[in-house]
Amino acid sequence: MILVTGGAGFIGGNFVLDWLVQQDEPVITLDKLTYAGNRDTLKSLDGDARHLFVQGDIGDRDLVGQLLATHQPRAVINFAAESHVDRSIHGPGDFIQTNVVGTFNLLESVRAYWVALPAEQKTAFRFLHVSTDEVYGTLEADDPPFTETNTYEPNSPYSASKAASDHLVRAWHHTYGLPVLTTNCSNNYGPYHFPEKLIPLVILNALAGKPLPVYGDGQQVRDWLYVTDHCSAIRRVLEAGTPGETYNVGGWNEKPNLDVVHTICTLLDELQPRSDGNAYSAQITFVQDRPGHDRRYAIDARKLERELGWKPAETFESGIRKTVAWYLANQDWVSNITSGAYRSWVDKQYGAGQ
Ligand code: NAD
Ligand code: TYD
Repeated sequence: MILVTGGAGFIGGNFVLDWLVQQDEPVITLDKLTYAGNRDTLKSLDGDARHLFVQGDIGDRDLVGQLLATHQPRAVINFAAESHVDRSIHGPGDFIQTNVVGTFNLLESVRAYWVALPAEQKTAFRFLHVSTDEVYGTLEADDPPFTETNTYEPNSPYSASKAASDHLVRAWHHTYGLPVLTTNCSNNYGPYHFPEKLIPLVILNALAGKPLPVYGDGQQVRDWLYVTDHCSAIRRVLEAGTPGETYNVGGWNEKPNLDVVHTICTLLDELQPRSDGNAYSAQITFVQDRPGHDRRYAIDARKLERELGWKPAETFESGIRKTVAWYLANQDWVSNITSGAYRSWVDKQYGAGQ
């Protein structure tokens, strides 16, 4: 079996669901259920003997040690993190605690388990750490995309905390021989995405008749990766990646934010037109830019293609259509999370009443 941390979040949740569609190997999900974690995402697995959900912190060594000893996973896949740049600007402390200290504690729990494994299991064991392209910093318009050899130049508290965790993972391989794999992926989108991030926020605000907040001039570029493509890349790296190596995962879909917002508006005009007949793009509102906003991210994913034969299956056009359709069809999932703590975040970030 495998242990997945952060499996009640956006990418981890998609990964667990997808894993159990692809195969029957059991999964334990360990998740603290912060504001970003949602039990509803894994609701379809209730009663499924192949899945066990455990609420807890990756930094809790007693709990993690006990889980590892009891269930003897052949791999740990670490998605657990504080993941939102804007929240890291308002309050970096949680990012240091989970992404740095939590990853350190997780590595120590895993190392203690791994060193005691019989030789064959020890060789086969993998610790896969899910990271981000944001550790590489920002690109100018004509720079080549990030490769695995780019230097780390993180600019936000979020990316700095992820960079620190990547360094710890690397060091646990070089110093202790722990068989680690690191993936650095670009911006994901798709089902079960918490609506504080650009794409789900724009879909939900559009449907609610609210402003669609575009930071600064909207010309910042992100390289969008459909979440199930990310899941297939992780499965492939887990299966065939070389311990100690890092792999960039990207969708070859660079888009300025304003284009992404317009694409969503056009899809909604088609799939669920506004009752007054106006276009959703009328709701676009330019707001104050994010401090230290990285201008462009782009991933060169050729190493993963060359060495492990992985390529994304979705284009941005196919993936964004699926994503908008999913949000239209899953209003229950949305309404369960857009109360309480989510409302306070929206008030804090965009002003009361938005
Ligand atoms: P998310 O915020 O949606 O989910 C994170 C999950 O981790 C939540 O379920 C949360 O409850 C859980 N968690 C947080 N702290 C924890 C702790 N201390 N112990 C146990 N569980 C904890 O994030 P996501 O978008 O699914 O991202 C998953 C991973 O992928 C993160 O490591 C993130 O840095 C990385 N990543 C995300 C993106 C993206 O576009 N979303 C891009 C690149 C990399
Ligand atoms: P986000 O989804 O927060 O991901 P990240 O900051 O990790 O790339 O933001 C994606 C882009 O969209 C980023 O350039 C910031 C921008 N953005 C807006 O313009 N308006 C918004 O309300 C949000 C949340 C993001």
